[in-house]
Amino acid sequence: MAVTKICCIGAGYVGGPTCSVIAMQCPHIKVTVVDISVHRISQWNSEKLPIYEPGLDDIVRKRRNVNLFFSTNIEEAIQEADLIFISVNTPTKTFGVGKGRAADLTYVENCARTIAQVSTSDKIVVEKSTVPVRAAESILKILSANHKPNVKFQVLSNPEFLSEGVAVENLLNADRVLIGHEETADGLWAFKELSKVYLNWIPEEKILRTNTWSSELTKLAANAFLAQRISSINSMSVICEATGADVSEVAKGIGLDSRIGPKFLQASVGFGGSCFQKDLLNLVYICECLNLPQVAVYWQQVLDMNVYQKSRFSNKVIESLFNTVTGKKITMFGFAFKKDTGDTRESPAIHVAKTLLDEGAKLNIYDPKVEPEQIQKDLTHPYVTDNPENVIRSIEIHNNPYTAADSTHAIVICTEWDEFVNLDYEKIYKRMIKPAFIFDGRKILNHEILATIGFQVHTIGKR
Ligand code: UDX
Ligand code: UDX
Ligand code: ADP
Repeated sequence: MAVTKICCIGAGYVGGPTCSVIAMQCPHIKVTVVDISVHRISQWNSEKLPIYEPGLDDIVRKRRNVNLFFSTNIEEAIQEADLIFISVNTPTKTFGVGKGRAADLTYVENCARTIAQVSTSDKIVVEKSTVPVRAAESILKILSANHKPNVKFQVLSNPEFLSEGVAVENLLNADRVLIGHEETADGLWAFKELSKVYLNWIPEEKILRTNTWSSELTKLAANAFLAQRISSINSMSVICEATGADVSEVAKGIGLDSRIGPKFLQASVGFGGSCFQKDLLNLVYICECLNLPQVAVYWQQVLDMNVYQKSRFSNKVIESLFNTVTGKKITMFGFAFKKDTGDTRESPAIHVAKTLLDEGAKLNIYDPKVEPEQIQKDLTHPYVTDNPENVIRSIEIHNNPYTAADSTHAIVICTEWDEFVNLDYEKIYKRMIKPAFIFDGRKILNHEILATIGFQVHTIGKR
């Protein structure tokens, strides 16, 4: 068998871009992306895709309805597929055992049950969502207990390492493709079939074969290590502020050590995104379940440092504005968790906004890609406020950075969008209330020039 039909369950940040790139690189394969959300699928079939990702529009335009399809007919897509990716969300559990830490596998489990119910031929089922170690085993158990006679399943673990904002680039030039399989002849066969799909554009030496558990743990470990680097440099930023060292200089100095390397050493307001926190919480929970408290504490600290960094930054804004922001208008530049995405999941901007709103500030928010409805939704969420009407009254969402800064006391930079670097800060300064403050939570601006204009400049990791 060679794979000619792929079904991907879950048309989100992972499933959408991954399958679009597969469709582009494998014109001989029919790729169908399905979702239970009718709205999501209609967006994928429209001119305005549900997610913003540089380069993605172009690929979807070229391949859609050629060999790339977006559909809500989940059963049909599963039935005709040789290979099925599961790319549904795996949020942190909000209730029950492991609440707030363990991964909620409801969506993955539902997929496995649907696959078992509707499949009438053999399938290779590929776990792409980040799931806790040994989830593949659970998927296989569900499939084996519920399948039709003469239908066989192989479950592979093939975690996705794409980073939002550069997803297409990451998918095209992946550092590696990791495939974990069951250590049997059939498992090896399934590995080879999935490899053949990737070999259409990924060099063979970048395809890594492991056992299923290693593959699952590698995904958690990679995200934990990346998050740890950010927490480590952020911890240094605290020492820098206390001593007069400059964290950018420190980062450069350590990054030139080839054993350390220069990437992921950007001190910031804190990390966000759908993965780091979720995967760390999950890792900590797994360690506790395995009765490894020392290891659990070690990784928990990475998360604690991130919470500390977000609070430190928010508190700095309040302290600098003479210890009160009540009734003051403050501009927020950026709401997404990083540049080049409209995604706000776990964005540090939400934490900053919450702290300022709790203190009675009024916020003018500008982000180039986040939809106004999303900002409202995030800031009126029960985790953020018990008074959503008040939040609505206290925020103004702008579609222009200059009007957003009009008559405000301070600008708080929460996302490192390139366009913030080249704004006309002289013009902005003139429109602001004096003394005018800038809090650069991403260290992207030229602080000397801003100070010359007249701004009171505060940043991270530098006095
Ligand atoms: C270290 C720093 O590497 C060096 O830059 C600094 O100037 C002095 O401290 P050193 O202690 O000589 O150098 O050796 P290093 O190679 O860093 O190893 C330190 C310890 O870590 C050794 O016990 C080594 O076995 C251990 N190690 C190193 C590991 O257990 N795993 C590794 O992957 C690397
Ligand atoms: C991450 C992993 O990078 C990716 O491999 C995995 O598949 C999913 O999780 P993503 O969350 O999309 O990707 O973005 P990433 O670039 O890792 O940034 C995460 C957060 O860390 C962002 O809030 C970013 O601003 C922050 N960050 C990143 C820093 O604060 N400093 C840095 O040096 C790098
Ligand atoms: P990720 O960042 O992991 O891609 P998203 O939340 O962006 O997560 O996307 C996951 C998608 O999976 C959502 O669009 C959701 O509607 C979809 N989904 C969840 N459960 C199922 C299911 N059982 N069948 C089909 N789609 C599902």
